[in-house]
Amino acid sequence: MEFTKIKEMRESKRAFKPDKVSKEKIYKILDTARWSPSAANMQPARFLVLDSEESIRRIKPGLAEGNYWALKAPVIIVVFSKPELDYQGNNLKYYTFDSGQAVMSLIYAAVDNGLMAHPMAGFDGNKIKEIFNIPSDMDIIVVIALGYKGDINTLDDETRKKDMKERVRKPLYEIAFLNDLNTPFKITKREPERYFETRVEIRFNDIDLIGHVNNATFLTYFEEARWKFFAEIFGRENITKLNFIIASITIDYETPIFPLDEPIVRMWVSDIGRTSFKFNYQIVSKDGKKVFAKGGSVQVFYDYAENKPIKVPPEFIEKAAPYTEKYI
Ligand SMILES: Cc1cc2nc3c(=O)[nH]c(=O)nc-3n(C[C@H](O)[C@H](O)[C@H](O)COP(=O)(O)O)c2cc1C
Repeated sequence: MEFTKIKEMRESKRAFKPDKVSKEKIYKILDTARWSPSAANMQPARFLVLDSEESIRRIKPGLAEGNYWALKAPVIIVVFSKPELDYQGNNLKYYTFDSGQAVMSLIYAAVDNGLMAHPMAGFDGNKIKEIFNIPSDMDIIVVIALGYKGDINTLDDETRKKDMKERVRKPLYEIAFLNDLNTPFKITKREPERYFETRVEIRFNDIDLIGHVNNATFLTYFEEARWKFFAEIFGRENITKLNFIIASITIDYETPIFPLDEPIVRMWVSDIGRTSFKFNYQIVSKDGKKVFAKGGSVQVFYDYAENKPIKVPPEFIEKAAPYTEKYI
């Protein structure tokens, strides 16, 4: 999975499906943690994996009551370490930092494997050590609930409320600075130099029983605009030479399109990565005042003969430049 997608999908929710997680997946996830960096390559983190109903039941007295939802996860991982297992310079004990890095790698690997990993600090370390015979000089750093994301309606009211809270972050300029501490690190998104715009012809069979353009048809409008965009920047005769696959499409419907509307698809490019880029779309009214829908699609350039993604061609970057959103 593309890293940006993993970043977007990672979340700490509390409902898990009862489905088991295969040993192979758990192995892959732990192996990613194993390959995380650590000071002087000391690799201080230790992992106790609980994947049986019995062992998960045993951890209950060691968890804070507010974390009992975690007992329904098919896997719980206890992460522990001690200062002596890591580098101890700079007046810092790196064992918690390096264990944290390993845990972050583990969490992202979980998402990459279709799973959710929820870290918890709400536990009694001494109890957990006692229950599982973990040496007393170890510190329990974090306990992770791991499994497939489940239905929020399976949670009790209080936990459900926690899961419904919007995920928020401080703005970057409050936590990062540029060159000196008086200059917040800020980036403003610049508009592209120009938008690609094309008119959409509403056909008779675009209309559904309710009398407006069928929701699924909006995606064909995006598709049509894409091909027109490529015809414009590369020339009509070259459009079949650009091999890419659509990795994902999102759409927000704002207001219906009726047969007499004369919608326009406005498009621009953003997020050019190593192998992929994003098209942004707006379907707007002729005068540009009404927005019918907004969306985005991620394309991956692909070598069909080799069956693998290829680098975004420099020619694409160059030709799409006027339509590409830039950051300053
Ligand atoms: C070290 C650590 C301890 C946490 N402890 C708990 C916990 O005990 N119970 C809980 O429900 N969530 C816990 N969380 C989850 C955080 O509340 C969550 O990561 C944060 O609200 C951000 O939400 P997000 O992970 O969905 O982005 C913990 C997260 C971390 C990193």
